[in-house]
Amino acid sequence: MALWGGRFINESHKLFKEFNTSLSFDNVLVEEDIIASIAWSKVLMKIKVITEKEQTTIESALLELLMEIKNHTKNILASNCEDIHSWVEENLINKIGQLGKKLHTGRSRNDQITTDLKLWCRNKIYLLLKNLIELQKNFILNAEFNHDVIMPGYTHLQRAQPITFSYWCLAYVEMLRRDVSRLKDVLKRLNTSPLGSGALSGTAWKINREELASSMGFDSATNNALDSVSDRDYVIELLSSASISMIHLSRFSEDMIFFNSGEANFIELSDSITSGSSLMPQKKNPDALELIRAKCGRVHGALMSILVVLKSLPLSYNKDMQEDKEGLFDSIKTWNDCVCMAILVLKNMKIKYESCRKAAEEGYSNATEIADYLVKKGVAFREAHNISGQLVLRAISEKKSLNDLELSVFQNYSKLIKDDIYKHITLESCLDKRSSKGGVAPSQVYEEIIKAKKRLNIF
Ligand code: ARG
Repeated sequence: MALWGGRFINESHKLFKEFNTSLSFDNVLVEEDIIASIAWSKVLMKIKVITEKEQTTIESALLELLMEIKNHTKNILASNCEDIHSWVEENLINKIGQLGKKLHTGRSRNDQITTDLKLWCRNKIYLLLKNLIELQKNFILNAEFNHDVIMPGYTHLQRAQPITFSYWCLAYVEMLRRDVSRLKDVLKRLNTSPLGSGALSGTAWKINREELASSMGFDSATNNALDSVSDRDYVIELLSSASISMIHLSRFSEDMIFFNSGEANFIELSDSITSGSSLMPQKKNPDALELIRAKCGRVHGALMSILVVLKSLPLSYNKDMQEDKEGLFDSIKTWNDCVCMAILVLKNMKIKYESCRKAAEEGYSNATEIADYLVKKGVAFREAHNISGQLVLRAISEKKSLNDLELSVFQNYSKLIKDDIYKHITLESCLDKRSSKGGVAPSQVYEEIIKAKKRLNIF
């Protein structure tokens, strides 16, 4: 029977029942619902709605239910309960009879659902924080291992200036650090307990909501019941964080797909995360990375969806809010899967040192160096830029790199160029000069790696 049967004379339509139920997806909240219910039973005991003994009976039955259902959540689906709250209550009543019917005193599914959801989000945030840090560690270890790999850095997908593979890794560490900081921020605002808000205006029972909040590990109780049951900001914030992080992961994937392409040929992905073609035997496709790139879409979709669901929704609880869950559950799983996959990709890839270096040498990525060289000799940068551009044009026409041009050729374009030009335009010199904070110089990169290792306790 539904929890609200008394007011109704006729049965729900079968189609409506199927349309209305959330059990097929909110069953993942079973553990959170039981934990919050136990906390609530203790409140009921304190205000003497139930005795100490009754509380113990309720708590033991709920824990027993949790044990039975752990790893068998599929069994929940066999029931025709409306949602996970009804399911837990019905099963409690099946175990302990009339006493089970006391548990919902002073509580509403409106404060119950958002409490469960916040507890669920909190656990997932902990998991994601752990895995985002693990991914950072993998970038850092790769950065350390490949510190001497020089490759071209790109703008507009054109070879721009030489960088190192380590430096590229550290760029992703920065993005992931921001992801972690955003998640911690979500956690800060999320971690307040709505339980005891009742349906929308608070509970008529004299309970201590702060004590209840801290018993579930919340920092405090929420301030306004009307807001508490309406608030899904934390879902939006979590999905925003997921969306931004997925952008980072998709850019990582795209970079790696390009590095792995026959055209770039900078890395080789491991067999363990690639697949073959059913027709073309030579192929090794970067499926894991392509999937990460694509899965970004469903996470962004879920963010859009919850924004639209909540826009202009009147206070306080409306059934519209049941639509907050599927997108959230799917996105958090997707995000976490993608982080784990990125770790696997990094763990097993190989760098092709020679072809990275060759690409950096061939792309005229040291043209800026010639301009800077001339500036040091007193030429205005615009002028110097122009001379360097002409030299690039000349080198292209001779099918040479800048380093291979004769000194006399350099001097045709500027008499200020001397023999020391060659040491100024080596790849190593291009890197070494950029030693101010944030630059690509190996000395800088080394310092950053040391700092990151300390921060993440890597020894
Ligand atoms: N299944 C509902 C949801 O996910 C639970 C809250 C139901 N509240 C209500 N007043 N019908 O939002």
